[in-house]
This record gives sequence, C-alpha cells and structure tokens, in this order.
Amino acid sequence: MSQIPMSQSPQVKFYSGENIPLELHKVRVVQKLHLVPIERRLEALHEGGFNTFRLNTVDVFLDMLTDSGTNAMSDKQMAAMMMADDAYAGSQSFYRLKTAVEEVLGKKYLLPAHQGRAAENIISNAYVKKGSLIPMNYHFTTALAHITQYGGKIVELLYSEAYNIKSTHPFKGNMNIEKLKEVIEQHGVKNIPYIRMEASTNLIGGQPFSIANLREVRAIADHYGIKLVLDASLLGENAYLVKQREPEFADKSMAEIILAMTELSDIVYFSARKLSSSRGGGICTNSLEIYREFEPLVPLFEGFLTYGGISVREIEAMAVGLHETLDESMICQSPQFIEYLVNALDGKGIPVVTPAGVLGCHVDAMQICAHIPQTQYPAGSLAAAFYLISGVRGMERGSISNQRDEYGNETYADMELLRLAVPRRVFTLSQIKYVEDRLTWLYENRSLIGGLRFVYEPPVLRFFMGGLEPVSDWPQRLMAKFKKDFGDSL
Ligand code: F0G
Repeated sequence: MSQIPMSQSPQVKFYSGENIPLELHKVRVVQKLHLVPIERRLEALHEGGFNTFRLNTVDVFLDMLTDSGTNAMSDKQMAAMMMADDAYAGSQSFYRLKTAVEEVLGKKYLLPAHQGRAAENIISNAYVKKGSLIPMNYHFTTALAHITQYGGKIVELLYSEAYNIKSTHPFKGNMNIEKLKEVIEQHGVKNIPYIRMEASTNLIGGQPFSIANLREVRAIADHYGIKLVLDASLLGENAYLVKQREPEFADKSMAEIILAMTELSDIVYFSARKLSSSRGGGICTNSLEIYREFEPLVPLFEGFLTYGGISVREIEAMAVGLHETLDESMICQSPQFIEYLVNALDGKGIPVVTPAGVLGCHVDAMQICAHIPQTQYPAGSLAAAFYLISGVRGMERGSISNQRDEYGNETYADMELLRLAVPRRVFTLSQIKYVEDRLTWLYENRSLIGGLRFVYEPPVLRFFMGGLEPVSDWPQRLMAKFKKDFGDSL
C-alpha cells in the first residue's frame, strides 16, 4: 500500500519544531459567536429534535455543520458583488462567470443552477429513467435522491480499503476499475447513461481520487461509449491532495491539476457553495449536443439561462471564487487545519478517518459509540452529545443520512461518522484546539452517550428536518458529569 509523501504545501516551519498550520490571511470582518450554558444547549436539543440541522445558530458556538455556503469570502469576492449586473437576460455577470468557468474548468458551455443538487436534478431528468443504473465511486445524499426520484439506481464501486477508518491509502476515493467493467458487462451499456465520479468523496470522509484512477475510468467510459460525469463540488481540495500525494503532479500548478481532471470528464457539475466559496451551482461541458439536452431544463427548474436561479451578486462572487481556487495558499488552509485536528485526535487514540481528508474531521461513531446499535443511530447520538457538551455543531453522516430502500426498510450506512466541517478560513487554531479538548473529554465519557429514535421521519432526505428523541435520560446524565468536571465553565 502506498504511503502519503511529505507535505509540500506552502507550510511555514516553526523554529520550535512544532508542526502547526499558519493562517495566511488576516481577519477583517468578524461575527460574534454565542457559547450558551449547557442547560440551554440541552433545551435547544429538545427543541430541535436532537437534530443538529434544526438548531438555531444563536445556540451554536462553532458551526461545523458544513462548509456549504459558509467558507469565508475574500475581499475581492465582496468587491465584485458590488458590480453585479441585474439584467434578467444577458447579464454581464453571467458572461464574467462563463469566462471564469472556461479558464478554470476548461469548459465552454455553462448552465447555471441555483446549487449543486439543482444540477443533479437537471442531469438526472435528462438521463435517468426506470431501469437506469449509475455506477459511481460513492453516493452523495442529494445525488442519490435525484437519481432514485427519476426511477434509477446506483452502484458504489470503491475499493475495500476505502471503508477502513484507519488507513494510509492516499486515494480512498478511487473507483474500483475491475468492478466497473463487471457492472457494465452485467447491466448492459444501454442501461448506464453515465458514470459519476465525485471529487473528494464526501460521505466516506472527504477522500480524494487520483488522476491515474480517473484516467482509467475515462478509458473504460471510452471503451463502452458511456459519458463521464464529474461532481466537482470539492474539486479544489481534491486537486490540492493530488499535488500532495500523486508524485506525477508534485510540480504542477493547481490550474494544471484541475484542468487535468476536468479534461477527462464529459460533464462537470458543482455546488458553488463549496467550490467557489459563494452560493450557486452549475453544469459545464464542451459538447454542444450535451448542452442542448440540458438547455430547456434550466428555464423550467431554475430561471433564465444567464442566471439560473442564482443572485447576480453571487454569480460575481462565483467568478472570482473560481479563480481563487487556483491559489494554493488559500486552498491549503482547510485541509491543513483538518490534518492538524485529525492527527491530534488520532494521536490520543480517538478514532477518526485517516488519512485526513477534506471538508472536515470525520469522527468514527461506530467505535466511539460501539455500545449503541445502528438501529439507534450512533452517529446522530454522537453529534447530539458533542453539541451538548461543547456547543459545537457537527453533522451526522451515518444511517440517519441514508434513505430507506424501495420497500421502506432501513439501509444502514457503511460508516457512522460525525463530521466536523472546517470551512475555508473561518476558524482559528485555538477554536480547533477547543474542539480537540472537548472531544477528548467526550471520548473519555463515551459510555454515557445513549441512542436516539425517530419521532418524525420525512420521506425524502429525512436527515434535514427529521425529529428524534433520546431513548433514555442519557443527556441529563451526560450534562451532570460535564458539570461535575467543568464546574462553572461554559
Ligand atoms: N455534491 C457534493 C459532493 C456535495 O458535497 C454536495 C453538498 C452536493 C453535491 C450538493 O450541493 O448543497 O449546493 O445542493 N454538500 C453539502 C455538505 C450540503 O454539507 O456536504 P448543494
């Protein structure tokens, strides 16, 4: 198994020898945070159905729910927003974005969509029907929901190493090439409208794929005449890790690495909430034929073709943000902070997904809450417990985030993770150290965490608004222990 080479990112060495990431930006605008007492946090949990999505941020200290729309924006992005052109059709803002997409992603046709899942809706609407099968490295919740809404199914083709929490494999997001061939042979080319590759595979811990692997997927797509769709929402970070971990690209620029990935793909779509530290989304391609297949769907679902449901101010921010994705000193910040947190926790024996990936630190609830059966949602329980004792809001990425099968049965997740997102340039190192500290305490008191059960379960994407309750009085007992150990501390 290959080992990860030493980091070559713009890291500044400390004379003391301490290995800490240094912020290469300064804070110019700040927002006040609220660290409310634990008694209020318990009330907030009850009010929000023990679901961190349903908390009001007045009760949240560090919001580590997601990086989606929460990356810090640059001064240049904010400035560009002031120059937006509000035209319904033919907005200059759109043409500036189109140029940025062509320069950064190398695709000349752009279809704007209000966010990533809107792009997924359009692609699924155009290509997926009953009987369709979409092979992919791994699903993302919204991608799966759209494919199944249109009657399709998915098959996930990661190598088994990807499911090992503790690993040194640099590219756990790689597609299993042998299995991909088998699946195509078994199901028939006509039932497979496209293959989906997700950059920095979100749900298995933000793990990247290598360009060598993407080339192999491309060769198979060519061989069978199947389109290759790239979910580029986390492409910048995938490119950064390719530079770090794939020797062929060690001396290449971010721009070259990103283009190497998009050139191999027929269709590239993205959530601009992640990719360009803005809001919005889009689909791009160099094929006029593909563009024409999607074109009528944008005005139907999104808005006119030069705004696609996105505010023009955000379109300006997207254009600038896309270019900033090529700046290694910007893109390295989140992965370096994540690596710092992952290594600190791993060093204390707290189970986290390794190697450190992107988007956030992924804590293994299956091990920490080994006493909670999957039927009682260990990752959801850990997310609730961690909020209770720290005010830090993470996201459940486990069985609650999974959808029931077509017969209504639970489908338990391969991994039960608590994701602690580290959006770009948002948190300071002392805040990260607070997370490490409180998680260490919770790990030592993990036997006090109990399970959850649904009291309200929406039929689609249930994790967003679902309501749960604790199966016992464990939150009270956890709070009592916290107060015993921390006294008056918030
Ligand atoms: N694809 C990936 C890989 C994503 O991570 C997301 C969103 C989407 C598509 C959908 O994009 O939110 O703009 O509609 N991920 C967010 C997250 C929600 O928290 O991981 P969207």
